[in-house]
Amino acid sequence: MEISKLLRPHLLNLTPYSSARDEFKGEADVYLDANENAFGSTSSDHFRRYPDPYQAKLKSKISEIKRVQTSKIFLGNGSDEPIDLLIRAFCNPGKDRIIITPPTYGMYEVSANINDVGVVKVPLNEDFSINLINVLDAIEPGIKIIFLCSPNNPTGNSIEQNDVLEILKKFQGLVVLDEAYIDFSPKSSMISALEDYPNLVILQTFSKAWGLAALRLGMAFADKEIIGILNMIKPPYNINGSSQELALKALESHEKMNEMIRGILAQKKRLKSMLEDISTVQMIYPSDANFLLIKIDNAHEVYLKLIERKVIVRDRSKVELCENCLRITIGTEEENNTLIDQLNQIS
Ligand SMILES: Cc1ncc(COP(=O)(O)O)c(C=O)c1O
Repeated sequence: MEISKLLRPHLLNLTPYSSARDEFKGEADVYLDANENAFGSTSSDHFRRYPDPYQAKLKSKISEIKRVQTSKIFLGNGSDEPIDLLIRAFCNPGKDRIIITPPTYGMYEVSANINDVGVVKVPLNEDFSINLINVLDAIEPGIKIIFLCSPNNPTGNSIEQNDVLEILKKFQGLVVLDEAYIDFSPKSSMISALEDYPNLVILQTFSKAWGLAALRLGMAFADKEIIGILNMIKPPYNINGSSQELALKALESHEKMNEMIRGILAQKKRLKSMLEDISTVQMIYPSDANFLLIKIDNAHEVYLKLIERKVIVRDRSKVELCENCLRITIGTEEENNTLIDQLNQIS
């Protein structure tokens, strides 16, 4: 598959912005090339220089952990940035379309809408599995990207890897597999499939298992041609200096993060069993993520009553296939106990 044939034609000849740090990359004594403040800053002198536009140190550490070459890594301002950049790079406004499989993460559709790109919806089956036949049937010439999410938000289940492979084989456009919650899942990432499928893009994030949502740092892994395109159209310094430093520090404590995940999974098991004892809870859906989707009597009223009691969950009851559903993030032991106490009082 030729990535350049998928690209919006006007980008083939784009001259990207060339920053000061693109034009001089070596070490020097005096830097007078980027109009920074030579006198310092009123808060911290540490941040007076522009950050590395391509985040070499951070990517090198990510490359070690994920076992992916640095040339196949893109970092964005949250994974929301590569979602938007992929649509902007490959979908011609007013003409091309993407496929999504609702209920799923909302930003695929919102980014498409912002970019005037059509959205073809192929709903999940009742059990939240992908309707493979319908996805394959929906493929037609104007479809440029298929967005899949595994484990899926808000349903929590994973997509069968064979379904993803089938789509990768039959579709000539990009398949974006969003693995935001993969670190919580007993199933493995599909990152190794990048070797065989140049049309695969995998998204992961520092916002969930790494506990760094405020840094806004998302990862895209893909063929180096796709990464090159994202680098060409991204804002020059899209990852700020403090995010680069703090993420690097977090990656150095990889084992601690795994410990935290084990704690979250233990709480998930506990929360599930406490929810099972609440008579109004009709269903707790299987989840490979750090949240549980539950079906509960009068979900919307329960949601509002929980707010009155200062406990906030996500009301998904208006979402297709999620009638009377609430999405509950796994909290600390204390937070989970508070939720259960309040649910017991409400019901
Ligand atoms: C499936 C999925 N993908 C991506 C994101 C956004 O991640 P980020 O914080 O990296 O933009 C979320 C956030 O909730 C999500 O649920």
